[in-house]
Amino acid sequence: MSSSRALLVSFSFDDEPYEGSAGDSLAVALMLAGRRHLRDSSRQGAPRGAFCLMGSCQECVVWVDGERRPACQVPLRQGMVVRSGTIGTDTP
Ligand code: FES
Repeated sequence: MSSSRALLVSFSFDDEPYEGSAGDSLAVALMLAGRRHLRDSSRQGAPRGAFCLMGSCQECVVWVDGERRPACQVPLRQGMVVRSGTIGTDTP
């Protein structure tokens, strides 16, 4: 008998613990966890979050394990360390 339940994995966003379904995109996992604010814009400090969910708008860019990545294009995996950081700088 097969199960339709997804494997839950743990990850962190700005040092806060989260859980989500392995294979979901990071953006979707954060949205399902109630986290929509992913970063602030570099010019005005305005809140930014996922918009297109297909890799075009870049509004969801965050630091994933030290690399700038669009959250909607990153599959969730166990132990992922995510930081909002300030996009426009070279460090998380
Ligand atoms: S939501 Fe647009 S690139 Fe991720």
